[in-house]
Amino acid sequence: SSSWVYIKDLKDYLDKKIILKGWMWNKRSSGKIAFLQIRDGYGFVQVIAEKSVLGEDFFNEIKKLKNESSLIIEGTVKKDDRSPVGVEILAEKIEIIHEPNEDYPISNKEHGIDFLMENRHLWLRSRKQFHILRVRNQIIKAIREFYLENDFTLIDTPIFTGSIGESAGNTFEMEYFDYGKVYLAQTGQLYLEAACQSLGKVFNLGPTFRAEKSKTRRHLIEFWMNEAEVAFYEHEDNIKLQNDLVNYIVKSVLENVRDDLEALERDISKLEAVNGEFPRITYTEAVEVLQNQGYNINWGDDLGAEHETKLSSKYDKPLIIEKYPKHAKAFYMQPDPQNPEVVLCDDMLAPEGYGEIIGASERIWKEEVLLKRLEEENLSKDDYQWYLDLRKFGSVPHSGFGLGIERTVAWICGLEHIRETIPFPRTLYRVYP
Ligand code: 4AD
Ligand code: MG
Repeated sequence: SSSWVYIKDLKDYLDKKIILKGWMWNKRSSGKIAFLQIRDGYGFVQVIAEKSVLGEDFFNEIKKLKNESSLIIEGTVKKDDRSPVGVEILAEKIEIIHEPNEDYPISNKEHGIDFLMENRHLWLRSRKQFHILRVRNQIIKAIREFYLENDFTLIDTPIFTGSIGESAGNTFEMEYFDYGKVYLAQTGQLYLEAACQSLGKVFNLGPTFRAEKSKTRRHLIEFWMNEAEVAFYEHEDNIKLQNDLVNYIVKSVLENVRDDLEALERDISKLEAVNGEFPRITYTEAVEVLQNQGYNINWGDDLGAEHETKLSSKYDKPLIIEKYPKHAKAFYMQPDPQNPEVVLCDDMLAPEGYGEIIGASERIWKEEVLLKRLEEENLSKDDYQWYLDLRKFGSVPHSGFGLGIERTVAWICGLEHIRETIPFPRTLYRVYP
């Protein structure tokens, strides 16, 4: 008897009988023949249903099937050079698993973004979303592979935290039993700093939360971050690690999901340019470049999205901007011994205007320096007792970074907006579905 085969594997079954299980996303038909467009989670293929094979009554039923009917089809695989998968299926038997009573709300017509977001649970079935989610999957797979191949240990960091990890402005707060106020993690960094003193090279990958009041094409409220932290790594080691990771991700995507990128109409030559060492400038140089171009920016201001786009547009690889003023950055960053007004940090900006994908720094490792910075930022040292402990017992220089998964997906897929990079986006105005 025939076996169940996914569309991606059909080409290995030429002229054989197989079983296909999937959904009919579209069809057209004439008096004697119907062309059913089937997707099964692994590809798209055309099924030919003939009146002479299926019988008149059943053929008429098939002709009336609504889109997104689920079907199990038994048929023969035929070579077809016009098909993207190189084959089509000649149906012999079709079982209707479920037929909708109403028209599927998402059609090939143009829909407004609010409508699509409201129907995200159905929109996921659309071809573009299918390809994006496959690229996202490959990016995450590449990240895990990179760390495991380089002897890092996975550390799962907590979601509930007692201490603010990044900045006080955009935390989600809640009451935690008798303990009182806790926050949803903005970062797992502080916990990775603890773990790297046990395991040397560590990484995490998980959801993080920021109550960002800004509605932009780059911000989500809930986003996934990959962070790495390495004991005894200094600023230079940290930059090299980030550069290696991003090259690894791009290479892995090009090798494994090129078809999906092509289906998304991504300009692949732009991704092929991403290799070797990335260009680097300091924050101070960046401000000079912007001032010379007429931007109204002063030394000390943080760089905004328009600045980032301008700066990175000169390069075809990601751009690393290092050594920002300490007051523009988080409390834990190590001051530059050459100039303590700046810190040993870097941001990596993706090319083509995608902006910051990585935030990174060497960490303050001397207790007295950290105490002073906590005080300057009005953070209570009681909340950071355990973090200060790390500086009391064999403290060492250490460095790390965080890579935003959705920003990376947007850049690699060439998407205009971050909302399509995650299965169920949480934005300022949306938590449904
Ligand atoms: O630059 P950020 O805030 O750095 C940290 O959280 C550090 N603690 C990381 C570390 O050193 N371990 O965030 C890191 C990255 C950003 O570069 C960006 O890619 C992404 O996280 N990111 C966001 N992505 C989507 N929506 C948001 N609201 C984001 N905020 C940051
Ligand atoms: Mg940042």
